Amino acid sequence: MTPTDSVPVDPANTAQRSAWDGDEGAFWAAHADHFERALTAYHPRLFETAAITTRDRVLDVGCGTGRTTRDAARIASAGSALGVDLSSAMLDVARRRATAEGLTNVTFEQVDAQVHGFAPASCDVAIGATSAMFFGDRVAALVNIGRALRPGGRVVLLTWQPPHCNEWIRELTTALAAGRELPTPPPGAPGPFTLADPDVLRAVLTEAGYHRVEVEGMSAPMWFGHATEDAFGLVAGLLGWMLEGLDPPGRARALDDLRATIAAHETPDGVLYGSGAWITSATWASVSPLS
Ligand SMILES: C[S@@+](CC[C@H](N)C(=O)[O-])C[C@H]1O[C@@H](n2cnc3c(N)ncnc32)[C@H](O)[C@@H]1O
Repeated sequence: MTPTDSVPVDPANTAQRSAWDGDEGAFWAAHADHFERALTAYHPRLFETAAITTRDRVLDVGCGTGRTTRDAARIASAGSALGVDLSSAMLDVARRRATAEGLTNVTFEQVDAQVHGFAPASCDVAIGATSAMFFGDRVAALVNIGRALRPGGRVVLLTWQPPHCNEWIRELTTALAAGRELPTPPPGAPGPFTLADPDVLRAVLTEAGYHRVEVEGMSAPMWFGHATEDAFGLVAGLLGWMLEGLDPPGRARALDDLRATIAAHETPDGVLYGSGAWITSATWASVSPLS
């Protein structure tokens, strides 16, 4: 899939647009049933913290295929939910699902949440599930999201804890590494674990102009599929790039190891790995120090 450059993004988000409005987003869109189910165990706490009311106007940043946007729209039955994302393919799925579910108070837009000109003070609550870690400039993005919030509005983010708290990434990458030492991404570069340090979460939100920042840890099983082969197909597609550089015996070993760890995590409830995340809430002050 060819990424579009029709969505204006901050230069810091060009690579994310290429990935999410390209092959990565297309893969997530094609496997929406899996990805929408993977983090189900976190959703009750995410929504409890967001405390959305019937009249709220909700912004879902990095909404992907829109499960949390649709759930927010159901709660805000006399309000609205707007889901924004970089991926046209994921947003197509989100729109189709919202229509199929008969939701009339939900809309989706393909924008860079870091720079999009949201109507000022047009939202009561912003949520973001495993998305804020991908912002090229996290402070700038959170300021921009803050401007979309009314004074006193809140942001609630779900972000991963470090890899040592996430069995899924440790086990899956160890298998696919096939004994190689894989390079670690530069500190602060956008990626799943960039907001894994709660002190960084607090600092970024405070710098952006939020107060009452509360970071709560939670551990829960992450769902990868109904059974081994199903989950194997998902993970091999998602993390298959890690096989690059391996010779044929190395690839075979990596894929055998991957299948073995997945089989070891098959349960009657599907393939489950341990995971840990932060659920962070913060209140938007009316004036950001960066305004
Ligand atoms: C890991 S996915 C999570 C999707 C969804 N929230 C979920 O829980 O399934 C991260 C999402 O963040 C989106 N994203 C990353 N950077 C973004 C940005 N600057 N503006 C809007 N969306 C962004 C990506 O396009 C992607 O869909």
